Amino acid sequence: MSRPRKIRVTINGRKVEAAVAPNQTLAEFLRCHLSLTGTKEGCDTGDCGACTVLLDGKAVNSCLVLAVETHGGSVTTIEGLSSDGELHPLQQVFIDNGTVQCGFCTPGMILGAKALLDENPNPSEEDIRLGLAGNLCRCTGYVNIVKAVGAAAKVLRGGK
Ligand code: FES
Ligand code: FES
Repeated sequence: MSRPRKIRVTINGRKVEAAVAPNQTLAEFLRCHLSLTGTKEGCDTGDCGACTVLLDGKAVNSCLVLAVETHGGSVTTIEGLSSDGELHPLQQVFIDNGTVQCGFCTPGMILGAKALLDENPNPSEEDIRLGLAGNLCRCTGYVNIVKAVGAAAKVLRGGK
């Protein structure tokens, strides 16, 4: 059996040092080692997007990333999105637009949307649909999610 490897990684702005098995995924590390259970595991094969987190600002499927690969990097999970008890505008518009039914897809959907808006602050509906194509939702039919991301983009642009 391979020996655990030591990693240093910033998670939600906090420096974390840990010994992880070489085959432990980032999703498992977040959920089981750090109790950051906002990150969901659906398929574990890169198909559903429920496990989406930001790694150095880019959206990744954390079930497909090994924890050791994050050494020296920075990870943001849904728990790290709000600040000083204030919801991030994306979280607020997701609530306001009725996008949350079972909620299983929501953390991944919001982080996928964050990566999208960081790259493209003024996306068209098609851009939003394409940007979130890897995030599956079994409940909502996507209409309100797409609407919410458009609304968040407007809020983040200062209402313009
Ligand atoms: S759990 Fe990672 S993509 Fe489905
Ligand atoms: S709200 Fe249930 S999977 Fe999206």
